[in-house]
Amino acid sequence: AGPEMILVETHGRVGLVRLNRPAALNALCDQLMDELGAQLLAFDADPAIGAIVLTGSEKAFAAGADIKEMRDRAYPAVFTDDFIGKRWETVLRVQKPVIAAVAGFALGGGCELAMMCDFIIAADSAKFGQPEINLGVIPGAGGTQRLTRAVGKAKAMDMVLTGRMMDAAEAERSNLVSRVVPADQLVAEAIKIADKVASLSTVATAMAKAAVNRAFETTLAEGVRAERQLFLSLFGTPDQREGMAAFAEKRKASFQR
Ligand code: HXC
Repeated sequence: AGPEMILVETHGRVGLVRLNRPAALNALCDQLMDELGAQLLAFDADPAIGAIVLTGSEKAFAAGADIKEMRDRAYPAVFTDDFIGKRWETVLRVQKPVIAAVAGFALGGGCELAMMCDFIIAADSAKFGQPEINLGVIPGAGGTQRLTRAVGKAKAMDMVLTGRMMDAAEAERSNLVSRVVPADQLVAEAIKIADKVASLSTVATAMAKAAVNRAFETTLAEGVRAERQLFLSLFGTPDQREGMAAFAEKRKASFQR
């Protein structure tokens, strides 16, 4: 049997995953996260795919981790089970670019999942929040760290301490999302953006995202050194030869698959 809580499509070289658990606003239960993780790794391994779009429904990207599934979890079993480490970070292992396309609610773990993607485009209907504080807990899948790096301390503290939501306009001006588009065009726009990325050199896009990600993990000097090594290593690839030859010859580049 195939997955039950996600819908999978391909659009040319773009792999699209739609979170599809409408009865619970895409609450991210273990089964959903396992299905999502398996599909992300399958797309990453598939040479026919060059970029991935992750989206939800019009009403919700995801309203968070599944509270009803979490409520009876207890310490120390939660520690030894490590459900976050085992299920939630698969998207971080994907080398191909992953774009989150968010409409409606992206709350708690839903916001955290979107922030684990490489960038977020938002529908004008999007609402982001870390409401965990209302449940007597705090964000647990990177929210306090990635939100703070994206929007800065003032907004992150405000969001994490009050649990309030941020609309699409505020998310764009706070640098949480890269673009806002009308809700009825969200998935089409995301596929268009991903299609551009997917038409490029697979090794170059993988290294580009690895290099940008270094900026969040290390010092400026170390990050610049890492970037330079990656940049120089691309001179060992056919795609560098092809990309630069195509420019000089005024034609479209045809990159390796
Ligand atoms: C389980 C959820 C859910 C969730 C919604 N549902 N969010 N079930 N976990 N996170 C269910 C509801 O129980 C309801 O089921 C159905 O989805 C529709 O939701 P409603 O509340 O009726 O919809 P609405 O009135 O439109 O309100 C939407 C909402 C609200 C504002 C998004 O659902 C809400 O506040 N949800 C919880 C948001 C949240 O606290 N997220 C953080 C979770 S903690 P029934 O069966 O009643 O129809 C977290 C920690 C992550 O994410 C840490 C890392 C793992």
